[in-house]
Amino acid sequence: MTKDMSTLLVERQAASLNRKVFIKTYGCQMNVYDSQRMGDALAKDGYQPTEVMEEADLVLLNTCHIREKAAEKVYSTLGRLRDLKKLNAANGREMTIGVAGCVAQAEGAEILRRAPSVDLVVGPQTYHRLPDLLKRARGGERVVETEYPPEDKFEHLPAAAPAVTRQRGVSAFLTVQEGCDKFCTFCVVPYTRGAEVSRPLDQVVAEAERLAAAGVREITLLGQNVNAWHGTDASGRALGLGDLLRRLSRIEGVARLRYTTSHPRDMDDSLIEAHRDLKTLMPYLHLPVQSGSDRILKAMNRRHTAEDYVALIQRIRAARPDIALSGDFIVGFPGETEADFAATLRLIEAVGYAQAYSFKYSIRPGTPGADLPGHLAEEVKAERLERLQALLMAQQQAFARDCIGREIDLLLEKPGRMDGQMIGRSPWLQSVFVDAKASQIGDIVRVRITGAGPNSLSADVVSAGAQQKES
Ligand code: SAH
Ligand code: SF4
Ligand code: F3S
Repeated sequence: MTKDMSTLLVERQAASLNRKVFIKTYGCQMNVYDSQRMGDALAKDGYQPTEVMEEADLVLLNTCHIREKAAEKVYSTLGRLRDLKKLNAANGREMTIGVAGCVAQAEGAEILRRAPSVDLVVGPQTYHRLPDLLKRARGGERVVETEYPPEDKFEHLPAAAPAVTRQRGVSAFLTVQEGCDKFCTFCVVPYTRGAEVSRPLDQVVAEAERLAAAGVREITLLGQNVNAWHGTDASGRALGLGDLLRRLSRIEGVARLRYTTSHPRDMDDSLIEAHRDLKTLMPYLHLPVQSGSDRILKAMNRRHTAEDYVALIQRIRAARPDIALSGDFIVGFPGETEADFAATLRLIEAVGYAQAYSFKYSIRPGTPGADLPGHLAEEVKAERLERLQALLMAQQQAFARDCIGREIDLLLEKPGRMDGQMIGRSPWLQSVFVDAKASQIGDIVRVRITGAGPNSLSADVVSAGAQQKES
């Protein structure tokens, strides 16, 4: 593969300084996307990426604050880093340690107090200032940057060089919306990511075109409330996510579109129609409901009932009958009774999920849920989670088994475990093993599903190259 000029230039610059950065990403896909964008900004600043923490001049932890465990993980990693930093210093090598992401935003200067080895704390809205912040940190200052700046970070973050994009794979993330105004009572996101902001149409289209030009075949639009995305077209007409998907589906080379995560209240008609009309929009929807009890939904401030949700699912299925559903669930929210929990199980039975994520309620300081009466014992939460997960797992396996014998389109993404084997993605986001060549990565091939394991499927190619990538 030949390298383009911009990559060569960036690599040469990085090599001349010979600085290396190790980025560790926790949390959701938005953090994965942000880590890539930080990597791009740092490449321009002379940092080459490394997978080896020990050899890094800069270690950046891109953190998650969503549950207590996620946040605590950061401090245990920082403990290990402190020792590594000391060891490096003894050998005359300097190591800069930075904390980015949602813990950085939520805890700010507190991190510097708890972890003396940290040089830099930077919240999610200021990544474009990283090169400047690092300069200050390297000069000996302990930097905390958690303000929401007036400028748009995306306008100021450099784009990845095409070769870097290509290397990241044929499926890419693209953040189109950030922040949250919903204030569910259990959740820290409105505090860590700030108010809902949508990136303008032109900016999103330009980035999607860049991705497509670099060989990306599938784009997943990201946002904490991605279906709250709104914009305007050139004539000032108001647009929603359905319109954005229609626009992006016209981009040459983009074969598949997905979006996540959605809120039930923002599933408007235009978006449901996009599922009916767009071949590029994959029949898969992650639509968290959290609980099946109206009492708990109200206490969570979700602002819809279980019946609203089920009715919404029916409308979506009427528009796109083969759609697979995924969801998030929280068990043991304060005040949850056995009857409330049973209502959640009933909702799961009624909907039928292809995939799901479920969590024990975790108290987040500063959220309204933390102050509610009726917190449950850890054992009660654990026992309910076990029952919930057994049901969800059974549904997931039933869905996978149901796929056996079906003919589907598979996007080939990466090599499999064995020689001559590739892993592709089904329209329903399952990993599928198939015999194919590495040169076919990026192709969409027609396969028949032959088997279903606990986490993946296997398939035989029916006919190759119906939708080969441009080379
Ligand atoms: N914006 C998305 C969810 C973002 S957080 C939405 O509204 O659906 C991802 C998931 O983490 C949530 O859906 C929820 O299930 C879980 N979660 C959030 N806060 C939590 C908490 N305090 N305890 C346990 N799980 C939590
Ligand atoms: Fe959190 Fe609720 Fe916003 Fe989702 S909608 S990010 S759960 S506050
Ligand atoms: Fe975690 Fe922040 Fe994402 S709290 S889930 S990394 S938005």
